[in-house]
Amino acid sequence: MTQDELKQAVAQAAADYVASNIAAGAIIGVGTGSTANLFIDALAGIKERIAATVASSEATRKRLEGHGFKVLDLNEVERMPVYIDGADEIDPGFAMIKGGGGALTREKIVAAVADTFVCICDASKQVATLGKFPLPVEVIPMARSQVTRELAALGGTPKLREGFLTDNGNIILDVHGLAIGDPVGLETRLNQIVGVVTNGLFARRGADVLLLGTADGVKTLRR
Ligand code: A5P
Repeated sequence: MTQDELKQAVAQAAADYVASNIAAGAIIGVGTGSTANLFIDALAGIKERIAATVASSEATRKRLEGHGFKVLDLNEVERMPVYIDGADEIDPGFAMIKGGGGALTREKIVAAVADTFVCICDASKQVATLGKFPLPVEVIPMARSQVTRELAALGGTPKLREGFLTDNGNIILDVHGLAIGDPVGLETRLNQIVGVVTNGLFARRGADVLLLGTADGVKTLRR
């Protein structure tokens, strides 16, 4: 199977997960990226079960609205049963690197309001140790040079994502060359750097369920 076929299979499995595990009339948090896009398309097949959605990016909001889903502002929502999103890497403890699409800040905020984080990805995203995928860090533009120095002091090589601004009007530094043995510790450390809005480690609040697209079918794994 190609990577796109694996993503398609896992996206459909995620819609099936919602149909089987989430009561009708719920609000669903929806992630960003190519796998999340396929999930949105699959979710349209059970639209009548979904009261509303919360989007983790402008791109996701547009795609949801294109299918006729109601999209709520997160401030209107106290809790959601589930948030479903892709990942760039996921480790055996279900810590993830996210933000390849640049939506990490809104993804982390929406995920924080959900009871269960369901990660949907193909098997290529499963790693023993996070860090081969460059770690995205969203930064206030005026702090770029200072944050770059701080990230370099931690042993990484930060590179500006050229020509890209987040939905929040900030820049992304992609940090290369990190082997992340302690994802919770590094996430916490990066949160202390002045000028960093969000880092792409999702370890303090990792995934609870992993729907993994493999050549042998979609596997459901729990933390
Ligand atoms: C978006 O900012 C990311 O966090 C995505 O969830 C991640 O990059 C996975 O994207 P794909 O599903 O396109 O691989």
